[in-house]
Amino acid sequence: MAHARAPHQSRCAPEVSVPENESTTAQPGLENLLHETRSFPPSPEFAAQANAQPALYEEARADRLAFWARQANDLVTWRTPFTETLDWSQAPVARWFADGTLNAAYNAVDRHVEAGLGDRVAIHFEGEPGDTRTVTYAELQRDVSRAANALAALGVETGDRVVIYLPMVVEAVVAMLACARIGAPHSVVFGGFSADALRSRIADAEAKLVITADGGYRRGAASALKPAVDEAIAPKEGADPTTVEHVLVVRRTGQDTAWTEGRDVWWHDALESADTTHTPVWVEAEHPLFILYTSGTTGKPKGILHTTGGYLTQAAYTHRNVFDLKAESDVYWCTADIGWVTGHSYVVYGPLLNGATQVIYEGTPDSPHQGRWWEIVEKYKVSILYTAPTAIRACMKWGEEIPARFDLSSLRVLGSVGEPINPEAWMWYRRVIGGDRTPIVDTWWQTETGAIMISPLPGVTAAKPGSAQVPLPGIVADVVDDEAHSVPNGGGGYLVLSEPWPSMLRGIWGDLERFKDTYWSRFPGIYFAGDGAKKDEDGDIWLLGRVDDVMNVSGHRLSTTEIESALVSNEIVAEAAVVGASDDLTGQAVVAFVILRGEHAARAADADGAAAVQTELRNHVAKEIGPIAKPKRILVVPELPKTRSGKIMRRLLRDVAENRTVGDATTLADSSVMELISAGLQKPSSSDD
Ligand code: WT7
Repeated sequence: MAHARAPHQSRCAPEVSVPENESTTAQPGLENLLHETRSFPPSPEFAAQANAQPALYEEARADRLAFWARQANDLVTWRTPFTETLDWSQAPVARWFADGTLNAAYNAVDRHVEAGLGDRVAIHFEGEPGDTRTVTYAELQRDVSRAANALAALGVETGDRVVIYLPMVVEAVVAMLACARIGAPHSVVFGGFSADALRSRIADAEAKLVITADGGYRRGAASALKPAVDEAIAPKEGADPTTVEHVLVVRRTGQDTAWTEGRDVWWHDALESADTTHTPVWVEAEHPLFILYTSGTTGKPKGILHTTGGYLTQAAYTHRNVFDLKAESDVYWCTADIGWVTGHSYVVYGPLLNGATQVIYEGTPDSPHQGRWWEIVEKYKVSILYTAPTAIRACMKWGEEIPARFDLSSLRVLGSVGEPINPEAWMWYRRVIGGDRTPIVDTWWQTETGAIMISPLPGVTAAKPGSAQVPLPGIVADVVDDEAHSVPNGGGGYLVLSEPWPSMLRGIWGDLERFKDTYWSRFPGIYFAGDGAKKDEDGDIWLLGRVDDVMNVSGHRLSTTEIESALVSNEIVAEAAVVGASDDLTGQAVVAFVILRGEHAARAADADGAAAVQTELRNHVAKEIGPIAKPKRILVVPELPKTRSGKIMRRLLRDVAENRTVGDATTLADSSVMELISAGLQKPSSSDD
């Protein structure tokens, strides 16, 4: 064991930086895993009442496809029942329940009203300024129906794509469901993304309509959204004319909003005149439900495609079993934004299919004070909380006396997602938020997997702080070596999914080849997730981070290439290399190394100049991609370390970014480069926020 630290100080996964995958022989952080001996079995009371019992594993093992067929029949209402469970003949494009028909919005809303649950609260909305709204399933049905009629009136037809660019307000959920109701795939773009990022996603999806808002509340202020839409669809030199015909605008903040007559339509006007009933469009199980763009290893974002029947089945199944949802009594809260897949599967489709009552919160955890989340938990008696390690670490930093001021005794299950949760944060989450009592489920999955894949079951698994542990019943995952051989317990390698699963992506929008290349070529016939992992002595899985050039900042995937392209698009930059350096708060932080163009090189000669360059470039990245992609540090360097084939050796830059002794540099074309870089960085590196 390389670092001998006491287990209580162990910070396993987030500290592990996986070596550069240069010759595709990465050995993901083998020696970095410390032994974790703590174990938290569920209490006998919890185990006895849990939805998921040990027999679930046995049932799935005995007949995996029959198991999934049962889930699909139990959790989803079909218009036409399916007779075929899985068709894998077109691998890697799966077809699940393909001859069945259904509608996602009907499943999320109408069937609950038909079952007499119309008065149950679907959503407790809490706006950042403190405004609230309670929406029952019956009200949701009326709103979704009116919105579906409004979309149809604007010319949206089954199969058309709709881009949604909204804050976390009730209308965001309504908009997604209205699209689903008419079989128009939605593509939600996170409200923090820039106009340029929005433009490329609209163009790739060839969207007909954009649904946005005047703005949303963020950190105590109204922050505009509509101007980014206007910019994203405005004519631009070198770009094709936009496919967008109308922009539907929710009034949230009431701020002044530029208006294009004929094109722009107020949401409230459109809904007011729309009928409150709408017949859902019954679609085939493989009808596209949504496209969600995510970062890959090239600059072009990937449109991850999900379809209807299999996705809904696994979203509902995981939500019910992993969080132990009791729809009649639980109040569920997932803090994710609908701009991410977590918001799709665990704010919209999973909880609503299960008839849950949930909280939606518009703002940031520290507005107007650092106890805001815990105030919300107390106010709504939240019983299930699902959030990200980065948020937990932020709360740890603010101090445990803040949550201690609130009554958190309603909580009974806690979840984590987005990145490995370090055991220290896990322990804090359980002790301070969970009152030393609640099970914690560390859930591993991806935009591509659509739903949770690896996670403890709260009433079955003895939880280990820091580990996602076991594939869910029905899921087959493994850790393999370079030759795709399963590694023995205690070994490390690549995380793969060896059997198709219902909510798997069906492709990359418009690019079948890229889909095959990205996920199915490393190990033919097996899905490679891009994550390094390790099996401990018990065979439990520990995630060790990405092995490709993808970073994970605050639980969000960012591609190094995309940020590099953004930097190089600035006229003062000649070349750029971006790495993710481990960061106490955000898991990884973006660190950029840039070479300035000749005539600008002198600008960074002194500390003030370097700081000005850094500010300029950080703002530039924020404009090109969004504030989330802003490098935390930008280091101006004279050269970048490259192999003889010209490939940037990010591993060495990561050493610099993490203030480590620079590792083996013998494969560099010019081995003096690292000395040159290190020498130039002796002065304290500038870094703001
Ligand atoms: C990547 C997927 C899935 C919703 C949020 C992120 C990392 C996710 C965990 C976890 C360790 C995790 C992986 C994965 N990741 N959950 N519980 N433990 N790592 O979705 O943006 O598609 O990112 O997030 O690296 O590949 P995403």
